Amino acid sequence: MDLYDILETRYSVRSYASREVPAEALDRIAAAFNAAPTAANRQPLGLLLVKTAGREEALKRVYGRAWFTAAPYVAVVCTVPGNAWVRSDGKNYADVDAAIAFQTLVLAATAEGLGTCWIGAFDPAAAREEFGLPEGVEPVAMTPLGYPSSEARKPPRLRKPLDQIVHHDRW
Ligand SMILES: Cc1cc2nc3c(=O)[nH]c(=O)nc-3n(C[C@H](O)[C@H](O)[C@H](O)COP(=O)(O)O)c2cc1C
Repeated sequence: MDLYDILETRYSVRSYASREVPAEALDRIAAAFNAAPTAANRQPLGLLLVKTAGREEALKRVYGRAWFTAAPYVAVVCTVPGNAWVRSDGKNYADVDAAIAFQTLVLAATAEGLGTCWIGAFDPAAAREEFGLPEGVEPVAMTPLGYPSSEARKPPRLRKPLDQIVHHDRW
């Protein structure tokens, strides 16, 4: 798949098979995450790969949907804001770095035939507890990582028309 095929194939998958993901695919996906750029190359990120088997009930405290724990893994991107680049006006770029790396992981997972769904609406306190996050480490987003179930279907892509998004020369 070239990049445009990957972009076309990706959608938020909310139905997963329990089929195991090969370790080599996980390694390639983690390497893709790590290849993403970060501001000033500060790399204030961590990737947590959580096996769901036997941990479903505890993980539902983090995010309650049944499909969240149906895939063999949940991937969680965490930042260490204290290690991130900070612009002269005080803006901390940790979340920007996390978003770029996590979307790179999502695209690599798509290339491997896996489904993903960005999850921001998790319970941060439950995530801190369940994943053993120390002070200074912030969970930003997570996704199931596994093969889409046989019922999973890409819905029509609803987007604003390009002419409402793209501005030429001035806003
Ligand atoms: C930062 C972010 C947070 C999101 N959080 C959730 C979430 O908590 N639960 C969920 O089901 N989908 C979540 N989504 C998925 C969006 O709903 C989805 O990307 C959007 O509707 C477009 O659909 P598509 O991904 O299929 O193209 C999130 C997406 C992003 C980018």
